[in-house]
Amino acid sequence: MKVALGFDHAGIRFKPTIIKYLQEHGFEYTDFGTYTEESCNYAEYAEAVAEAVKDGKADRGILVCGTGIGMSIAANKVPGIRCAHCHDVFSARATRLHNDANVIAMGERVIGTGVMLEIIDAFLNTEFEGGRHVARIAKITEIENKYCK
Ligand code: RB5
Repeated sequence: MKVALGFDHAGIRFKPTIIKYLQEHGFEYTDFGTYTEESCNYAEYAEAVAEAVKDGKADRGILVCGTGIGMSIAANKVPGIRCAHCHDVFSARATRLHNDANVIAMGERVIGTGVMLEIIDAFLNTEFEGGRHVARIAKITEIENKYCK
């Protein structure tokens, strides 16, 4: 599985821990930045990751900013992206099972590295349940098609 990564200056301290996890667990990854702690605009990195997932260059995306909120709002503007803003393992697993989320956004100012890694582990290793959730996701896509012209 290929994973696209995006951070702003308020999320970049999680980057080495995430990359170490991905390497140790055999995931390919692309780091879309940021690359320094200089203040930057989170939307730019969320867009790059969301586009990589939309275009099939990555299977999943992981975004980290201060809260995860700005990143998730920005990523969800890209058609085909279902970005879940998650700070607990239950939600990370549930959003894969029920929402087929393809991107996750977290806040470095909100959680520690232990919970963050468990969230990523659940997000990358849980399969979509399908069934009744397929029609529900199709409704989301209908909304997207109605407004994203
Ligand atoms: C940066 O200060 C902060 O606003 C950003 O990382 C994020 O939390 C926005 O939602």
